[in-house]
Amino acid sequence: MINFTYVNPTKVIFGKGTLDQLGPELSKYGKRVLIVTGGGSVKRIGLFDSIVAELDKHNIDYVELSGIKPNPRLDSVYAGIELCRQHGVDFILGVGGGSVIDAAKAISIGVANEIDVWKFFTREVEPAGAPTVPLGCVLTLAASGSEMNANAVITNTETVQKLVLYDCDTFPRFSIMDPEYTYSVPQHHTIYGCVDIVVQVLEQYFSNVPNTPLQDRICEGIVKTAIENTYEVIKKPEDYDVRANLMWCGTLACNFLCGMGKMADWGTHHMEEEIGAWYDVSHGAGLSAIFPSWMRYVMDANVPLFKQYAVRVWEIDPAGKSDEEVAREGIDRTEAFFKEIGSPISLGELDIDDTNIEEMSQRVTKAGPLGNVKKLGKEDVKQIFTMAL
Ligand code: NZQ
Repeated sequence: MINFTYVNPTKVIFGKGTLDQLGPELSKYGKRVLIVTGGGSVKRIGLFDSIVAELDKHNIDYVELSGIKPNPRLDSVYAGIELCRQHGVDFILGVGGGSVIDAAKAISIGVANEIDVWKFFTREVEPAGAPTVPLGCVLTLAASGSEMNANAVITNTETVQKLVLYDCDTFPRFSIMDPEYTYSVPQHHTIYGCVDIVVQVLEQYFSNVPNTPLQDRICEGIVKTAIENTYEVIKKPEDYDVRANLMWCGTLACNFLCGMGKMADWGTHHMEEEIGAWYDVSHGAGLSAIFPSWMRYVMDANVPLFKQYAVRVWEIDPAGKSDEEVAREGIDRTEAFFKEIGSPISLGELDIDDTNIEEMSQRVTKAGPLGNVKKLGKEDVKQIFTMAL
């Protein structure tokens, strides 16, 4: 196991009816809140009105930034920063899925610094230690894990880049997570969220650092639970426990605890971010289109771990089979799972052909090779994209 430091200051407030804790929590930090929302779901399910009622009860003013798109745009972050400055906002509340929460985080660091916020994403300016305005969230979709980490992923449509902000104080001060608010998530977004959860964990699980049995079992537990509950949520979208299990899986998948002491890969995530920047596809859909190809491409770098995954997660009987055969069966089962739940397993299903593969591969490896299980240079990435076509 390698050395690590783990800090996570987010207060998780989980369960049915927990929105009544919003007012008391907000009162600790501010008197004027920017509420950030997406394309309307929060209003359609009545959550926005409930939030406003909570704020009124605690004499907290608000201004609103709505219309954050999936794959949130830099323009909307600039608009949020402007609103905060105009209205003297002292707290930012993201209400929605990962896109909304990520936008709230970008606004939080943008307002507190007199420089172009995009420079934190390109790392022209180091975000570590930069001041931020406190933020919190009310989560409505189990997927990104953004509710309990400091990362934010923003798309700059002018430069065709989707980049991640990390290493700064953009942890939500609190996250209110009531699974009932996820009942209304459409089936395809529910499924893409489940894929994101599984792939995020596996990107931390597949690592060449030996002797991490606890981390391995935590990862396997989250993945197995997410898979079981994905099948269930398709049949019973309004089952509280199923939605609750998925919501908690999503948080634990990306608060980075399960990968501590290992060396996470994240190659597939960076490749998907490149796809998202060019084609604006749902993040989970992009991941499921390329992840099985990534697995096949890197498997030979750590066959024992791929075999362990196949046996423990998919309960494949290894008797009479070579390690490679078992490992490959685990990959096939992963791909079959994505297909069975209706998530794409090829780029073609997302209307993506080979037109931009050369440039995408070049751009995503510009800063150096991707990943850790196997270091992936431009030609490797190109091959994986091509395998996924
Ligand atoms: O915009 P609205 O109307 O809210 O609709 C959204 C959106 O269309 C809808 N939705 C969300 N909650 C709903 C709902 N519809 C009905 N009822 C509800 N309760 O779902 C659609 C997708 O929402 P989005 O927030 O885009 O999904 P997700 O949570 O998967 O977030 C995706 C974004 O997160 C980034 C991705 O790159 C992508 O930009 N990620 C962020 C991470 C992080 N911060 O740590 C890690 C992730 O792996 C990921 O990269």
